[in-house]
Amino acid sequence: MFFFFFLNHSSFFFFFCLVSCLAIPSHATPTDTLKPGQSLSTIDGATLVSANGLFELGFFSPGKSSNQYVAIWYQNISKQDTIWVANRESPIPASSSAILVLTDAGNLELISQGATGNVTVWSTNTSSLNMTTLQLSNEGNLVLQSIQNSILWQSFDHPGSTFIQGMHMGINIKTGARQLYTCWRSPDDPAPGNFSMGLDPSGSTQLFIWKDGTVPYWRSGEWNGAANFLGIPWVPLYSKGFFFETEGDQKYYTFTACNDSLIRFVLHWNGTDSSFMYAGASQGWEDFWNQPVKQCEIYGACGPNGLCRNNGDLASCSRLDGYQPKSNHAWKAGNRSAGCIRQAALGCLNKGQSGYKKLQDSSNRRIAIIAGSVSACIVLLLVVSIFIWRQFVFGSGPKGICLSILVL
Ligand SMILES: *[C@@H]1O[C@H](CO)[C@@H](O)[C@H](O)[C@H]1NC(C)=O
Ligand SMILES: *[C@@H]1O[C@H](CO)[C@@H](O)[C@H](O)[C@H]1NC(C)=O
Ligand SMILES: *[C@@H]1O[C@H](CO)[C@@H](O)[C@H](O)[C@H]1NC(C)=O
Ligand SMILES: *[C@@H]1O[C@H](CO)[C@@H](O)[C@H](O)[C@H]1NC(C)=O
Ligand SMILES: *[C@@H]1O[C@H](CO)[C@@H](O)[C@H](O)[C@H]1NC(C)=O
Ligand SMILES: *[C@@H]1O[C@H](CO)[C@@H](O)[C@H](O)[C@H]1NC(C)=O
Ligand SMILES: *[C@@H]1O[C@H](CO)[C@@H](O)[C@H](O)[C@H]1NC(C)=O
Ligand SMILES: *[C@@H]1O[C@H](CO)[C@@H](O)[C@H](O)[C@H]1NC(C)=O
Repeated sequence: MFFFFFLNHSSFFFFFCLVSCLAIPSHATPTDTLKPGQSLSTIDGATLVSANGLFELGFFSPGKSSNQYVAIWYQNISKQDTIWVANRESPIPASSSAILVLTDAGNLELISQGATGNVTVWSTNTSSLNMTTLQLSNEGNLVLQSIQNSILWQSFDHPGSTFIQGMHMGINIKTGARQLYTCWRSPDDPAPGNFSMGLDPSGSTQLFIWKDGTVPYWRSGEWNGAANFLGIPWVPLYSKGFFFETEGDQKYYTFTACNDSLIRFVLHWNGTDSSFMYAGASQGWEDFWNQPVKQCEIYGACGPNGLCRNNGDLASCSRLDGYQPKSNHAWKAGNRSAGCIRQAALGCLNKGQSGYKKLQDSSNRRIAIIAGSVSACIVLLLVVSIFIWRQFVFGSGPKGICLSILVL
């Protein structure tokens, strides 16, 4: 009974730890793995380095902040270009030291050791009776796995603001679970900010950036099936290895870089999503894709039925012919969110007058188009095969062709 208590109480764990914890010293040859009982500490600055030397995990302080965080970055590039941060919401103050320890019970715990005692500020909440190892993979994924290689937890399932090769941005259509990316609060604070990004929960292939969790701020348009988003035709993302995949219940975007150049997508604290390619130590990261950039790319910039024109850095909103601002007062004050409404109601009920026909739910349209083209394809195939077959029967001379057409 004492032993049970012993394993489940972190302060007791510490007592135990004093005796058996094997801290990895920073001068040792780099390793990519922690074994149960081993730890990294702020005091000696030890890190894990992926086997290919690309990624490093350790403690860092972002920008001007002196708070300490556990993060992953590119070993040979700036520590500031993190791809993942563990304790985003629970920083360790500069005055405290901390250890990241893999417990014998299979939990990865970050423990702050300050004046007020030892506090677990972050953990993976995992447990395993069998021996567990923590490994920083060559892809930059921090993986906690049991001895039978079953994955208990991985950082790729808990993304931050950065999307890199091998990660998913998608949804499980059965459970609704999504990989949601969230921006930092500011360049100095990795706590979750106001913008998040992910796949449309209603099932389309559109990516969204939301403000305050649910308010659409940007959308990509549907994936056109091969090369790009319909809404942003100007940079072919597929040339960077970006693609959409359906695998069982999972629908997601991912990418595989076509060469050795490093690529990362970052959702900035201000809601802009940028993608960077590393162009070497002297040039650093070059961005090749940013969204939204122009004001009219922002979702509903001029409200429903509003007409948006980019005018330098501003959105110039006007109304469509036959429409007027829903609220003149708000519109003049620069608040366009209510948009415009028709000046005169449509006379659809009277024969001969112009009007609109209500479409069925537009999400079915894609299916209708696909179904349409599939049947058109089958008919075409049938016609061609009959034609070829007839050519065999009637010969391929002009007479044969005429006979073939006639028979069709
Ligand atoms: C990182 O830099 C070291 C030292 O310059 C070098 O030996 C190593 O190959 C580099 N690793 C990568 C992945 O570029
Ligand atoms: C916190 O843990 C360290 C060992 O990692 C130990 O030296 C120290 O006494 C502990 N402090 C408290 C208040 O338990
Ligand atoms: C672990 O559990 C705690 C308490 O339920 C929660 O606040 C924390 O976010 C969890 N950690 C992770 C990495 O999910
Ligand atoms: C631990 O490993 C043994 C042997 O590999 C296996 O039979 C057992 O189910 C495992 N236990 C857990 C909790 O994974
Ligand atoms: C987030 O939004 C709230 C109100 O919606 C605002 O007060 C706050 O300043 C915003 N934070 C950042 C970092 O922009
Ligand atoms: C990889 O391809 C991109 C073009 O998509 C190019 O700009 C970059 O220089 C290439 N990198 C290498 C290492 O060849
Ligand atoms: C948001 O911040 C990024 C990075 O600082 C910057 O490149 C981008 O232009 C900003 N976007 C807007 C709309 O201000
Ligand atoms: C703009 O108007 C809408 C109502 O149409 C209101 O909900 C919103 O708070 C207003 N925004 C600002 C910034 O005043």
